[in-house]
Amino acid sequence: MEDNIHPIFEALLQRNDREYFLKQRSKVLWFTGLSGSGKSTIAQGLERRLFEKGFFAQVLDGDNIRSGINKNLGFSIEDRTENIRRISEVAKLYLNSGLITICSFVSPTIAIRAKAAEIIGKEDFIEIFINTPIEVCEKRDVKGLYKKARAGQIKGFTGIDSPYESPVNPDIEVLTEDQKIQESVDSIYNFILPIIKFN
Ligand code: ADX
Repeated sequence: MEDNIHPIFEALLQRNDREYFLKQRSKVLWFTGLSGSGKSTIAQGLERRLFEKGFFAQVLDGDNIRSGINKNLGFSIEDRTENIRRISEVAKLYLNSGLITICSFVSPTIAIRAKAAEIIGKEDFIEIFINTPIEVCEKRDVKGLYKKARAGQIKGFTGIDSPYESPVNPDIEVLTEDQKIQESVDSIYNFILPIIKFN
């Protein structure tokens, strides 16, 4: 029966088809760490490395999320939870598009990250702990925010008067203190390569 013949191009495209097209396995690489820990710098370095090696990746961070889709959100625990919820939903769409999605957010609590993993799917969620001691972040103070937080000009700043809970069992932990950015990028790239390779 001709009516029952459905050409393959009419079927709904699946994630696997897109991964095949892109010759990669899509994953969400979830960076967590204090403000000023180096998350976004390392995330951008990793994005570039992946691009140079022929992978298709995209960073989501404060610059492109909190200035746009989440610009109505602040830093109360409720707003941070909503921030991460929306980001996780966006990351899930990217994941299904076959992209390697690098999320770089403080995501300060175990519960917030558990929610992200739940939305994205535990098997596709790779937790990367950018472990930089607060003293180092505060000393760097690239954005001058620690100084303001200490002066009481910013309330509820992570690590000062709002909690940061370190991951208990991250997939990767990067100790940035004595490492160059490229070394941190290398260690993450080497870890994820077998996972994102399309065989
Ligand atoms: S999260 O807690 O909701 O995951 P997110 O990663 O989006 O935070 O934003 C953190 C960035 O916002 C910090 O790197 C810093 O530049 C800025 N920021 C402004 N106010 C705060 C605050 N109270 N706590 C933490 N970061 C803040």
